[in-house]
Amino acid sequence: MKELIFATNNIHKLQEIRAILDGDFIIRSLAEVNCFDEIPETGNTLQANAEIKARYIEDKYHCNCFADDTGLEVECLQGAPGVFSARYAGEDCNSEKNIDKLLLAMEGESNRLAQFRTVIALIENNELFLFEGIIKGRIANERFGTGGFGYDSVFIPEGYDKTFAELPAEVKNTISHRAIASKKLVAYLMSKNEK
Ligand code: IMP
Repeated sequence: MKELIFATNNIHKLQEIRAILDGDFIIRSLAEVNCFDEIPETGNTLQANAEIKARYIEDKYHCNCFADDTGLEVECLQGAPGVFSARYAGEDCNSEKNIDKLLLAMEGESNRLAQFRTVIALIENNELFLFEGIIKGRIANERFGTGGFGYDSVFIPEGYDKTFAELPAEVKNTISHRAIASKKLVAYLMSKNEK
């Protein structure tokens, strides 16, 4: 069976992609290959960061691998926080501080359109393949719900009237930016597997 390293130790992301692949590929996390390095995320775009992480692993382990990077892009903030979503409120911040900063920046703003965007970079036999997933929605005026993580409590996906933090995890994991990008990666891997 084919093996790939996913440049992450995020259990949630691993479970999600393993579930979609349904056992057709073996996906190894960084911990499973004994990689505990702080992989730099120095790119100015989601694509650059995903590629940097995937190339880092490819250089070190010489095997096929993929990495992802996600950002929340808010229209009235010209796409911010974007690639800086994880550290929007500063280097030592957390999700709560990031949300506080976002709500403050959008105070009184009627255009609340936003999207989550994920880019997955796959390095296969030294060649780069990119897969993108976008979910459109809007930013609530305040936090709602306790589920999920990150900006979930303020993001209302298009077609719903609840935030990601209020929706059941199964719903989020079916429609999310990451699910869309992951499904594109999986479709590509499956199509190669059949040849
Ligand atoms: P990462 O690239 O998956 O590490 O995500 C970067 C940042 O985007 C995280 O620190 C979160 O704040 C945010 N983020 C990523 N995915 C989600 C999500 O599904 N819901 C809410 N926030 C997210």
